Amino acid sequence: MDNEIIVKNSKLIELQTIVDGIDGIISVAENFNHIPFEIKRVYYIYSLNNPDAIRGKHAHKQLEQVLFCINGSCEIGLDDGTNQQTVVLDKPNVGIYLGVELWHTMDKFSDNCILLVIASDIYKESDYIRNYDEFIRYINQDKK
Ligand code: TYD
Repeated sequence: MDNEIIVKNSKLIELQTIVDGIDGIISVAENFNHIPFEIKRVYYIYSLNNPDAIRGKHAHKQLEQVLFCINGSCEIGLDDGTNQQTVVLDKPNVGIYLGVELWHTMDKFSDNCILLVIASDIYKESDYIRNYDEFIRYINQDKK
């Protein structure tokens, strides 16, 4: 893996590939095993036809997620309030764990990109921080 993660609360997750000869590959993500939390929701993002689309632009207070680009490629921008970096997701078996309090964006979607997201909780808008200044205030308040 060539993406080294320097931001807090994030890491790459590489799933094994079970190769069925020429008949395909299986990658498996299990609860509390490859995925470091109890899985409560799975969603996927597709039809990313706008080349200028920038998704995300938020952080979560409690939610943990793992993102896999299971078709095509995209870039994930990560910002823990101190360090920023960009990670390329271009392998169906290599995902990125996004822990709490991590500002993130998703962009540079390739044709037919499909982003699979595994999440630790059901959807709660109250868990989102959608304003960057509020994010910085929130993480600094948390350190006190
Ligand atoms: P959002 O999480 O902001 O999308 P992204 O991070 O991919 O840019 O969600 C976009 C919209 O979809 C927002 O109105 C909330 C809604 N939504 C749900 O209703 N349920 C969900 O599980 C998710 C992920 C989003």
